[in-house]
Formats: sequence, C-alpha cells, structure tokens
Amino acid sequence: MRLKDKVALITGGSHGIGRAVSLRFAREGAKVAIADNEAEALEEINALLRAEGAEVLGVVTDVQSKSQVDTMIDKVTAQWGKLDIVVNNAGICKPSAFLEIMEEDWDRHLNVNLKGAFLVSQRAARDMVHQGTGGSIIQMSSVNGLAAESDQAHYNASKGGLNLLMMSMALELAEYGIRVNSLCPGFIETRLTKPLIENPQAIGTYVKTIPMRRVGQPEDIADAALFMASDESRYMTGHCLVIDGGQLIKLS
Ligand SMILES: NC(=O)c1ccc[n+]([C@@H]2O[C@H](COP(=O)([O-])OP(=O)(O)OC[C@H]3O[C@@H](n4cnc5c(N)ncnc54)[C@H](O)[C@@H]3O)[C@@H](O)[C@H]2O)c1
Repeated sequence: MRLKDKVALITGGSHGIGRAVSLRFAREGAKVAIADNEAEALEEINALLRAEGAEVLGVVTDVQSKSQVDTMIDKVTAQWGKLDIVVNNAGICKPSAFLEIMEEDWDRHLNVNLKGAFLVSQRAARDMVHQGTGGSIIQMSSVNGLAAESDQAHYNASKGGLNLLMMSMALELAEYGIRVNSLCPGFIETRLTKPLIENPQAIGTYVKTIPMRRVGQPEDIADAALFMASDESRYMTGHCLVIDGGQLIKLS
C-alpha cells in the first residue's frame, strides 16, 4: 500500500486518465476525493470505488470557478482533516486551426486547463503550508506542453503555461516540503482521442509516428502518477515526466 493514510484530490476523475488515477490511488490505500463537473459520471466512479472498499468523496465542481474550488477543498479537509496529494487533471481539448480559433474557445481552454489548475493548486498549497506536512502536487500536462502540434495552439499554450506554472510553484514551495511536478502524456486512449481512434485509417497512420507502435492507456499514466504522488519520487520537484511511447524523441 504505497499511499496508505494519504488524502488525494483528483480533478476530472470521472473519465479517462483521471478515472484510472483515482482507481490506482484508492487501490494503494489513499482516501480519494474526486472533483468533476459531470455529476452522473462522478457518482458512477464513486460507487465503483466504494464497492471496492475505498474511502471516497465526490464533489461536483467546475474548476474554472474559485468559489466552487474553495467549497470543494473545504469539504475534503472537513471530511479527512488534511490534504496530501493533488492531481490537476481536469482538461479539455477541441482542435481548431490557428486561423480559425474563436475567442471563446481560447478562453475556455485557458480557463479549464490553466486557470483551473492555478485555482486548485493555490488553495491546496495554502492548506498544505498550514498543515506543515508537505505534499505532492501533480499537473496533468501533455507532450503538447513541450512541443507544438497543429490545430492545437490554444491547447498547446494552456499546457506550456501549465509546465511553467508547475516550475514556478516548485521553486516557491520546495521550502515547505511541497513537491510539484508535471506528467506529460502522449496519445492516450480516452474519449478525448476517440474521434481519431475510431477512424481506422487515420489511427493506423498515427500509430506509425509512435516508436513503441501503440497508443497509451490511462493506466500507463496512472502508474506514473502513483510514482509522482508517492515517496518514491521524494527528491523530484519541478520535473516534466514524459510518458509517450517515445513519440517526442522522433524528428521524422
Ligand atoms: N488523452 C490524451 O491523449 C491526453 C494526452 C495528454 C494529456 N492529456 C490530459 O489529460 C487530462 C485528462 O484527459 P482525458 O484524455 O482523460 O480526457 P477525458 O475527457 O476523458 O477526461 C477529462 C475529465 O475532466 C473533466 N472536466 C472537464 N472540464 C472540467 C471542468 N471545467 N471542471 C471539472 N472537471 C472537468 C471531465 O468531466 C472528465 O472527467 C486532460 O488534462 C488532458 O489535457 C490527455
């Protein structure tokens, strides 16, 4: 049990990568709080975790709202008295050519993917500093935060910003024993990537760009999140951990 007695908060934990992280953490003994803006899916993952005997708290939250984020973290600390681990995973991606991006799409990507992570991180870090027992904050970034992909300028910018937010936090929070790191997944099979996955010809071509010749699974990322959350990564902070089957190392 690598997270026994730890309290972990995962945003966007109802689907995809966040769901796999929630399950992995709970199976390693963590008390798991999930914040998601989709109530029905949140109830479904909560019921699954409870059936496995996990201690779980689901709070319907839109991470773009400071008041909703504050209320959600109040509930977590009221329930368990502390917060040790945060995974800022809630995110959206709606591809659009740079010349076509609408202002509202730009705002929504930056608000959910970057401002949401800022709001949750700042409030959680303040609580962790007050607790005085350190913590691990994980930003679910992307390879798109390290290199540009076409039709994703707003998404790329949000994830690049998230990596610099992560480094800034790591710098200022190290003295409190709070570690802050990013995970940078490549192409992972979730509903976010469903349109490409369900197009056999397109996915066949795409997989050839991945040296390991397969798309990633949410569990591939959950294992990396467990490492970053646990004491096994105790001397790591300010790091971007790439989990992409080798995609980013390839020039052509
Ligand atoms: N799938 C990939 O290939 C991939 C690659 C790199 C990074 N990522 C990142 O991983 C994270 C999870 O993506 P996924 O692929 O599992 O997608 P997903 O759509 O399956 O899951 C995203 C989750 O975030 C929640 N969410 C969205 N907006 C929210 C909001 N405003 N407030 C609270 N919750 C909200 C959704 O309800 C959902 O549960 C995202 O940050 C994404 O950018 C995904």
